[in-house]
Amino acid sequence: MDGASALSAASATGALAHDSAHRHVAGDARYVDDHAEPGAMVHLAFGLSAVARGRILSLDLAPVRAAPGVIRVLTADDLPGINDTGPVARDEPALAFSERRGGEVNYHGQALFLVVARTREAARLAAKLAVVEYEEEAPILSIDDAIAAGSYLTAPYRMAAGDAVDAIAAAPRRLKGRIEMGGQEHFYLEGQVAVATPGEGDEMHVLSSTQHPSEVQAAVAHNLALPANAVTVEVRRMGGGFGGKETQGALIAVAAALAAKLTGRPAKLRLDRDDDMILTGKRHPFRVDYEVGFDDEGCILGVRFEQWANCGWSEDLSAAIADRAMFHADNAYFYPAAEIISHRCRTNLCSMTAFRGFGGPQGVLGAERMIQHIAHELGRDPLTIRRRNFYASAGAGEARAMTPYGMRVEDCVIGEIVDDLVVAADYHARRAEIAEWNSQSPVMKRGISLTPVKFGISFTTTHLNQAGALVLIYQDGSVMLNHGGTEMGQGLYRKVAQVAAAEFGLPDDAIRITATRTDKVPNTSPTAASSGSDMNGMAVKDACDQLKARIAAHLGAEGAIFENGMIRWTGGETSWAEAVSSAYMARVSLAASGFYATPKLTWDRPAAKGRPFYYFAYGAAVTEVLLDTLTGENRMLRVDILHDVGRSLNPAIDLGQVEGGFIQGVGWLTTEELVWDPKGRLATHAPSTYKIPTAGDRPEVMNMRLWAKGENRELTIRRSKAVGEPPLMLGVSAFLALQEAMMASAGEWRPLDAPATAERLLMALD
Ligand code: MTE
Ligand code: MOS
Repeated sequence: MDGASALSAASATGALAHDSAHRHVAGDARYVDDHAEPGAMVHLAFGLSAVARGRILSLDLAPVRAAPGVIRVLTADDLPGINDTGPVARDEPALAFSERRGGEVNYHGQALFLVVARTREAARLAAKLAVVEYEEEAPILSIDDAIAAGSYLTAPYRMAAGDAVDAIAAAPRRLKGRIEMGGQEHFYLEGQVAVATPGEGDEMHVLSSTQHPSEVQAAVAHNLALPANAVTVEVRRMGGGFGGKETQGALIAVAAALAAKLTGRPAKLRLDRDDDMILTGKRHPFRVDYEVGFDDEGCILGVRFEQWANCGWSEDLSAAIADRAMFHADNAYFYPAAEIISHRCRTNLCSMTAFRGFGGPQGVLGAERMIQHIAHELGRDPLTIRRRNFYASAGAGEARAMTPYGMRVEDCVIGEIVDDLVVAADYHARRAEIAEWNSQSPVMKRGISLTPVKFGISFTTTHLNQAGALVLIYQDGSVMLNHGGTEMGQGLYRKVAQVAAAEFGLPDDAIRITATRTDKVPNTSPTAASSGSDMNGMAVKDACDQLKARIAAHLGAEGAIFENGMIRWTGGETSWAEAVSSAYMARVSLAASGFYATPKLTWDRPAAKGRPFYYFAYGAAVTEVLLDTLTGENRMLRVDILHDVGRSLNPAIDLGQVEGGFIQGVGWLTTEELVWDPKGRLATHAPSTYKIPTAGDRPEVMNMRLWAKGENRELTIRRSKAVGEPPLMLGVSAFLALQEAMMASAGEWRPLDAPATAERLLMALD
C-alpha cells in the first residue's frame, strides 16, 4: 500500500497515529520543562527529611540562606493559606517544617522546606545544608508493623453477599492461602514538574504535569489563600502519568506558585529523578488472605478475602483504591457467597497513590492466585476451574450474575473471549507439549497460563463521573477543541478530536487540539479510571450536537446530515465553510460548552451495595515463559491477548494501550521491586536498582488483537469501551506462568509472592 492509500485506509477504520506521534519522535513536543525560561525565573528544591518518623527538635536554615545563589528559603510559616495538599483528607502539609512550631516527620524524604535560588543546581545544593535535629521514633513500615501497632487510616470496610462463613464450612472442599504483592513506581519518563507565573494582581498561571488540573488549581488556591478564579492551570501533555500525576502534582505546583507569589517572579520546580522516586507516592503494596469452599469440580461455593493495603503516611486516594481492590476480588468469577474485608494500614512510607488499575490489580491477583490454588488441589488445568466459575454470559438470564456488591453483571463476554483465545493461542496442545517437554528437561522449565480480566468502568466516587468540553468554530470554518481530559500519551486528545471530526463530518486535521486549561473548562475530574474518552468524548459530542442544531436551524435544514465537509438535507445542501460563514453573518453563536454525566450509577457506601460501574471491560491473555531453575532467570516466550474495547474509536491507539498496559503489569509482577531499608529509606530510587521492562524483555511472539465482535451494550461514545487500565491486569498471566514453571521443578504446590524476581523464584525452589 502506498503512503496515501495507507492513510485513507487508516482513517476509514479510525486507526490514526497519536496526534503528537511525529513531535514525540522529532523532539518538538513541548513539555513543561521545554518552555523558554524568562531571565527572571527562579528555581526551587525541597529540603527533605532524613528520618522516617519523628519530631523536628531544631532546624537551622542559616547555612541554606547563606549558600550561593539562594534568594529565599520558605517554610510552612510562609504559606498564606491552608498548608495542605491532601486530595481527600486534610492530612498532608505541603511543607512540614515551621520555624515557629517545629514539625512532625511522617516518612523519609518528606518535604520540610523550600529553597528558592537563581539556578536549579544552587537550590539543590543549598537544600542539603540545613542542620536538622530530630527526635526519632521507630517507623511503622510493613503491613505487619501496622497490624502490631494498630495503625490504620480508616476503619476496615466490608462487602458481603450471602453467608460466606457458612458456605465455606458446608463446602465439600476448603482451602486457605495468602499472597503478598509489592508496590510499583510509576516511572513516567517526564518527572514531576511545574512552572508558575504571577500575573496582574493576585493572578497565577501554572503549567503543571498533572492528570488533574482542577485539583491543582484548588490546591494552589487554598494554600495561597486565593479564590479559584485567580488561578489558571494549563496542561498540554504529560510524559506519562499512569496515576502518578493524579494527585502528586499538587505539591509541586503549590511550591512553584508559592515561590512565584512571594518573589513576584516565574518559578520552576522540576524534581530530580531520585527525589521524585523518594518523595512521591506509588502503587500500594498489598497482602491478600483467602479462604474458599468449593466442590470436587472446582465450582466455588463461598469465599472470604481479607485484604491489607500499605497506604503510607496519609490518606491520599487510599480509601477509593482499597475499595477498588475489593470490587475486583471477584475478577471474572461468580461467588455464590462472599465476604471481603479491607484494612487500610497507615505506615511511615511515602503516601501510596493511584497507579493504573487503581487497586483493581491487587484484587484480581488475589482471585487468580486462589483459582490456581484450587486447580492444583484438584489436579486440574487452572483454565478448567476458571471457565467453571465465570459470570454467566450476557443474555443468559439472571443466574450467576450478581457481584458481591449487589451489581448485576449484564454484559459478560469473558466466556466468548476465552473460547476464541484458547483456539487462537492453541492453548491445550501447547500446555500438553510443555508438560511433556518439562518432564525431559531437568533444569529449564516452561510454564503457561491463561488469565482473564473483567474491569469496572466508572469512578467509584460517583460525583467524579462528569466531564465538560468547549468547542469553538471560527469564521473560516476551522474548529478549536477543548475538554477537561488530559493527554499523558494514551491518545485521548486524538480519540476525542476524531469524535468531533466525525460529528461535524470534517477531516481530522480540521480540528485543532488545544491544551487543557481550567479557564476554558471548569470543575473537571482527573483523567483517570480509564474514563477519559468515554466522558470527554460524550461532552464534546454534546457541544457538537448543540452547534449542529444551531447551524441546521439557521439553514432551515431539518434532519441535516454533516459529512465530507458538506451539510445535506431534503431540499438542499451547502458546504461547511459556507454554512459557518452565513451562520456568523446571521448572528448565530458558534461556541458551545458541552457536558456529560455518566448515567445509571448509584452507590451506597455504608451498605456497600449499588451500581458503581456503568459497564465492564473484558480481556484475556495466554503467556508462556521459560525459567532457568538454577539462576531464576526467565523470559516470556509468547503472549497472545484478546481484548474487548467495544467498537474501537481508534484501533491503533487502543492496541498500543493493550500492549503497554500488559507490559507494565508484567513489570509490576516480575522485575519491579521496591525495597525500603529498616529505617524506611527507599533503597531502589533510581533505574540502577529499580528494573522496569525494556525493549529486550518483549516476548519473541506477541499476538495482540482487539475483539472484533466487541460492542458496548451501554450507550457510550460510538459504543466504544475504555481501554487505559484493564490490560494491565493481563500481566497476571505472566506471573502465574512463572509460578507454573517453578512448580514444574518443585513438583508440588509452592505459593509465590510478587514480584516474581529471579531471587524470589530461587527462594521458592529451595
Ligand atoms: N498510557 C500512556 N501512554 N501513558 C499514561 O500515563 N495512563 C494510564 C492509561 N494509559 C497512561 C496510559 C492510566 S492510569 C489511565 S487511568 C488512563 O490511561 C487514563 O487515560 P484514559 O482515561 O484517557 O484512558
Ligand atoms: Mo489511572 S490509575 O486511574 O490514573
